[in-house]
Amino acid sequence: MSLLRQTLLFLSQRQNLEDFLKQNPLALKARRRFVAGDTREEALAVTRELNQEGFVVTLDFLGEEVTDPAQAEAAAEEYAGAIEEAAGKDLDTGISVKLSHLGLRLDRETARKHLTDIVRRAAAVDRFVRVDMEGADLTKATLEVVEGLHHDYDNIGAVIQAYLRRSDADIKRLNAERVSVRLVKGAYLEPEEIAFQEPGEVALYYMRLTERLIYRGTKPAFATHDETLIDFVIDLADIFGFDKSNFEFQMLYGIRRDLQRDLLEKGYRVRIYLPYGEDWYGYFMRRLAERPANLWFLLRHLKE
Ligand code: FDA
Repeated sequence: MSLLRQTLLFLSQRQNLEDFLKQNPLALKARRRFVAGDTREEALAVTRELNQEGFVVTLDFLGEEVTDPAQAEAAAEEYAGAIEEAAGKDLDTGISVKLSHLGLRLDRETARKHLTDIVRRAAAVDRFVRVDMEGADLTKATLEVVEGLHHDYDNIGAVIQAYLRRSDADIKRLNAERVSVRLVKGAYLEPEEIAFQEPGEVALYYMRLTERLIYRGTKPAFATHDETLIDFVIDLADIFGFDKSNFEFQMLYGIRRDLQRDLLEKGYRVRIYLPYGEDWYGYFMRRLAERPANLWFLLRHLKE
């Protein structure tokens, strides 16, 4: 992993840089590239535009690492309220939820209770809840909560990170339980003992996990902007005769719009991950870390 990427991921957890960027009007403008806006209203307006273009959406109310029970409760209410309002407006969107936003750092029961409420309310309006995957210290707890809830609700799915060495075993189990998986490379800083560090190794492992999902997965989602991996998914799906309606591609709002449209035109289902909310710093910094060229984009805005 490059030093720049490590530095950016480290800075993503630093409060003083967060305070600086959040007060800087030009940084506020730059974050619009990746974030729909501060409010639910703005997020739903962008969702409508994306739906009109043919994309489906998953909304992400930004926030993580909550340690105050009142904040966890407020986040849960926002997730559930947003999905109900989106469904009421006939928008084609699910939601993506982070368990640390629902209080997983406080205790597992708090997060489980909030997630159950969100999933129940989403089920009532026929919408899907995807539980994002965070740092590796939360992987086990997150999967246990998702798998537990999946016994009662089928509108909940997991995320698996291809940089984690444990992921093959997790995918085998999730496939057997018929839990839908979103496969990503992984966006956090993890040690070598548990995570592949070389991009080539991560890509190879992503391919191996793709095979498992296409062969035995339930409605898998391939979330990547990596064209080699996307081509691999397409080729493998063709070989196995896996119909386009059985899987989808997912990409982040504002990233590789050309590729998003290209896949849509080829008849694939493409879901856009659409974040909104005031707590955009951690998300924004992870996007910078993925592509250092984005740093120049930010710096350009800062000195304008
Ligand atoms: P890679 O980083 O190799 O990028 C491939 C190409 O895409 C680049 O060459 C560039 O052209 C473009 N690109 C990628 N990132 C870019 C950026 N930030 N800015 C501009 N261009 C960029 N992670 C996680 O740990 N837990 C999760 O729950 C999720 N959830 C999630 C949902 C969705 C829908 C997506 C698309 C991704 C995630 N991720 C995630 C993030 C994921 O782990 C990973 O960090 C990013 O997708 C970047 O990896 P790629 O697979 O795109 O490949």
